[in-house]
Amino acid sequence: AKRVVSGIKPTGNLHLGNYLGAVKQWTAMQDRVQAEGGETMYFIADLHGLTEWIAPADLRQQTIEMTATLVAAGIDPDRSILFNQARVPAHSELSWLLNNVARVGWLNRMTQFKDKAGKNREGASVGLYDYPVLMAADVLLYNTTHVPVGEDQKQHLELARDIATKFNTDYATTLFTLPEPLISAAAPRIMSLRDASAKMSKSNPSEQSVVKLVDSDEVIADKFRKAKTDPDLLPATIEELADRPEARNLLTIFAALADRTPADVLGDYAGKGFGAFKPDLADLAVAKLGPIRNEMVRLLDDRSAIDAILNKGAEKARDLAAPVLRGAQEAMGLVL
Ligand code: TYM
Repeated sequence: AKRVVSGIKPTGNLHLGNYLGAVKQWTAMQDRVQAEGGETMYFIADLHGLTEWIAPADLRQQTIEMTATLVAAGIDPDRSILFNQARVPAHSELSWLLNNVARVGWLNRMTQFKDKAGKNREGASVGLYDYPVLMAADVLLYNTTHVPVGEDQKQHLELARDIATKFNTDYATTLFTLPEPLISAAAPRIMSLRDASAKMSKSNPSEQSVVKLVDSDEVIADKFRKAKTDPDLLPATIEELADRPEARNLLTIFAALADRTPADVLGDYAGKGFGAFKPDLADLAVAKLGPIRNEMVRLLDDRSAIDAILNKGAEKARDLAAPVLRGAQEAMGLVL
């Protein structure tokens, strides 16, 4: 049976990039995988949230908000195991064991560390550097078969496979299952609305570039109406958008929100300008995202209910993690 596992950092609110790239797939898989008798597990990666400074009160608040957002977006805590990483100590424990299997040379190749540390490599936290090993532990703990993520996480999952393979070889075991990344076909990489060479992310300096799920309807619509485009008309085929990255990005977002193919959407707008396209996109986004925001706000009224959801999820996750952690400890000679 399939075992689907994925995580999201609580730092920064859910935005259109991680919603379309990851969370929308998560809810779809919840239905599909469960119909086949599989299991879906989603977690708030609060331990990964520590790799860059965050005030404790903010981390607590954002973990609660991210949980509410995921539930509002359709993750059903009665059907999926929904938890936060910190409540399942096995993530940290396995991570230490895997630190001794992963190689420094492997981590040195990780592009996300290079991007995030920038010129200040010496001043980056060890956690930021070691981030992908904790991520490997996150998935290897659960015999995960599939990991739905955006394209930017693909390299980290390849590392998780390398770590699993080396562990299995070095300790002559079949303990770890090799996880397959599942990159969203509809929205592998959503780009900034101001600069289509940068991915949409909370660390982007311009507020206008990121549509957040907490934005009001007015703000969402405004961000799309002011999104950067070019003066040309929309063409008849996708190929003609090859060197128009802003236009291509808006088309991708429209299609992903509408659950249609980009070619199909283009059929409606070929020969029209962005003056016609952008208001429709703004309306569509408000119609899809507004209800999620409203539900999230409603759920945030009862913080203890959210806490209870995470507690229940963590309890189930701890049960599933225990035998795999134990297996790793045994394989390495830690159990006497
Ligand atoms: P995070 O929190 O940055 O993002 C969560 C998910 O959203 C995807 N994503 C995007 N997809 C398309 N376009 C974008 N602009 C965009 N921005 C974000 C990410 O690829 C991700 O799937 N390291 C992970 C969290 C994590 C994890 C894991 C994921 C921790 N442990 C184990 C899978 C398995 C991260 O920082 O994602």
